[in-house]
Amino acid sequence: MITMEMLIDTLSKTYQSEIEEKQVLNKVSFHVNQGEWVNIIGPSGSGKTTLLKCVAGMMTADTGSNVRIGDLDVLRASEKEIREFRRNNIGFIFQEYELFPAYTAKQNVMLPEWPYKKEAKLRERSEALLRTLGLEERMEATPPNLSGGEKQRVAIARALLNDPSLLICDEPTGNLDQSSRDNVLRILKDLNGEGRTIFFVTHDYDVLPYGDRVFQLKSGVLKEIEKELVINH
Ligand SMILES: Nc1ncnc2c1ncn2[C@@H]1O[C@H](COP(=O)(O)OP(=O)(O)O)[C@@H](O)[C@H]1O
Ligand SMILES: [Mg+2]
Repeated sequence: MITMEMLIDTLSKTYQSEIEEKQVLNKVSFHVNQGEWVNIIGPSGSGKTTLLKCVAGMMTADTGSNVRIGDLDVLRASEKEIREFRRNNIGFIFQEYELFPAYTAKQNVMLPEWPYKKEAKLRERSEALLRTLGLEERMEATPPNLSGGEKQRVAIARALLNDPSLLICDEPTGNLDQSSRDNVLRILKDLNGEGRTIFFVTHDYDVLPYGDRVFQLKSGVLKEIEKELVINH
């Protein structure tokens, strides 16, 4: 695993439509150290997904913004460089799982690398990951036949396919019942313990005890808040 620091400096994002201009992020600055778990908390509509997409190079930020992940200058790199970097170093986990319903759990985990690697090797890797995540009995099931907690574990297995040093999580516990949620958070905590950096956005205060630091996103402004204060509120 490569070291994975994130440096975000004066990141702004304005959505432009024909009738209006809306600034969702206003000079957001923060850093995430190698191996840290950083949570961004904010209500629905506060710009969490927008922030995550700008950070991961899936959306262009306004000029004047700066985003660095590891040795990648996200806002100046080419599309191809960003794609390669993401593929090799970042795992994504989303609220809606983003699995393909027609493929089995095992195939879903293999899909991102299907064009690039030998199928037998991929199958082996996928099976090993699914086993680690307690899904040995569910490998041949398709997403419509899996519970929410199982789907999210398949998505985590997929995110781990390339052994990423950074996990970017967009409310991955948002659709889960409490016991599945705790299970997913414990899995992520173990992955964090292996040295993987975690960047996690959520509106759920119960996630915060699992992280090292907390930032609050409110009206486009991000500020660090004392973890202990929000946990005991
Ligand atoms: N592509 C877009 N075009 C215009 N407005 C958008 C777009 N995506 C999101 N928004 C608006 O930006 C705000 C923040 O959205 P989002 O980043 O999805 O927030 P969150 O993830 O915290 O719920 C919302 O008001 C949303 O309606
Ligand atoms: Mg969102």
